[in-house]
Amino acid sequence: MTKLSVNINKVATLRNTRPQLNIPSVIRCATICLDAGAHGITVHPRPDQRHIRPQDVYDIAELLKKYPKAEFNIEGNPFIEFMHFIEKVKPTQATLVPDDPAAKTSDHGWDLQNNAERLAAVIRRLKDLGTSVSLFMDPQPEHMELAKRLGADRIELYTEPYAAAFARGDRHAADAYEKTARRAAELGLGVNAGHDLNLDNLPPFLKQVPHVEEVSIGHALIGDALEFGLAETVRKYLRASGLAT
Ligand code: PXP
Repeated sequence: MTKLSVNINKVATLRNTRPQLNIPSVIRCATICLDAGAHGITVHPRPDQRHIRPQDVYDIAELLKKYPKAEFNIEGNPFIEFMHFIEKVKPTQATLVPDDPAAKTSDHGWDLQNNAERLAAVIRRLKDLGTSVSLFMDPQPEHMELAKRLGADRIELYTEPYAAAFARGDRHAADAYEKTARRAAELGLGVNAGHDLNLDNLPPFLKQVPHVEEVSIGHALIGDALEFGLAETVRKYLRASGLAT
C-alpha cells in the first residue's frame, strides 16, 4: 500500500502573508489531514522561512505525538540549516534534497558521485539519531547502487518531469520511473515519490511504477482543497451575514 504524506508548506505560505492572525493554521490543517486518513505530514523548512518556520516544525512534532502511527517527514538540504531540526525533533524520515536556497522549489535530484563522502557522513549521523533517510533522486536506475552504498533507506523519485510529460500526453512519461523503482527495490531501497503529483497523474503513476511506499504531495493537494472547499465556505459566510439560512 502506498502511503500519503501531505506536504503542508503551502498552508504556511498563505499564513505568512498575515502571520499575526495565524490564518490558516498549519496545525489545524495538519490535524484535518491526519483525521482524514493521511499517513503523515511533510514539511520543507527553508533558510529564508518563506513557508514553514522553525516553530511550525516543533508544533507539528508536538501534534504528531497524538498520532503515534503518523509519520513526520522533514525535507531539506542537509548542508544548509537543516540538521538542527532533525537533532531536535528526530522525525521518522529525513528526505535529503540538493536544493539551492534561492530555488523556488526542489528542482533536481542528487549528484551522488560528487557528494558521496559528505552525504555518507550525514546519513550515518541521521541514522544514529534514529531517523530514516531518503535521497531525492532523478529517475536514473544506474544511480541506485550508489544510493544504497551511501546508506540511504529509501529514495524519493523527483516526479516533476513525469508530471510535465504526462500533461503533454506522453505515454512513456513514467517509463524511467518504473525502471528506477524496480532497480531500487532489487537493491533493498524503499521508494517514495513526489513533486507535482495530482489527482490526474497520480493514479497512472502508481499503476505503472511498482514498490512506491509513499507519495508526498503539497501544491496540488492544497490547491484542490481550496477548490473543493470554497463553495461550502461561501455558504457559511452567507449564513454568518444573515443572507442565507
Ligand atoms: N518532495 C520534495 C523533495 C519537495 O521539495 C516537494 C515540494 O516541497 C514535494 C515533494 C511536494 O511537491 P508538490 O508540492 O509539488 O506536491
